[in-house]
Amino acid sequence: MARRLMRTLILLTAVCFIAASDVVPFTIVDGAEIPEPLGGLAGDPEAGRVLYFDRERVRCHICHGSPGGPGVEGNAGGLQAPDLTGLADRRTEGALRLWIVAPHLLAPGTEMPAYYALGGRMEATDPLYGGPLLTAQEVEDLVAWLMGLKGG
Ligand code: HEC
Repeated sequence: MARRLMRTLILLTAVCFIAASDVVPFTIVDGAEIPEPLGGLAGDPEAGRVLYFDRERVRCHICHGSPGGPGVEGNAGGLQAPDLTGLADRRTEGALRLWIVAPHLLAPGTEMPAYYALGGRMEATDPLYGGPLLTAQEVEDLVAWLMGLKGG
């Protein structure tokens, strides 16, 4: 009985690990964009805003600063990265998605992390070791928020 329970637990843990470290398939069109939402998911812009300013794992604002001008969220940016103010006026949704998923395809040698590629998480203490930095849902949340960055 105890052994069967143990076996079920091990199996469940394995299934969770595979699910967490997986990436859903996607199609890059013309080497320039991923037009379809990852996994067909709808993004939540408010969740995307919170992710953008997350200081631990995501850290977009550490490089890009606060869209809308310095000080909006108490950070004027630091490293050399473009200001994303008015981004939706100059980039398509599909291009934004590819920037987050695999920026090195658009800017070879870039310092921006590939947020949706296997191997993004390489800390031994990370229970999602070997998986991507963001989930498909988190990528879509960020895209939804960035698509609202008009004007400026
Ligand atoms: C370590 C610094 C760094 C981090 C962190 C970072 N980026 Fe970038 N990002 C860059 C740089 C630098 C570029 C410009 C490309 C290049 O020349 O390397 C860029 C380019 C972009 C572009 C294209 C900008 C344009 O004008 O078209 C988008 C969109 C973008 N980043 C979004 C994000 C988002 C969203 C996050 C967080 C999920 C993020 N970046 C995190 C450094 C960073």
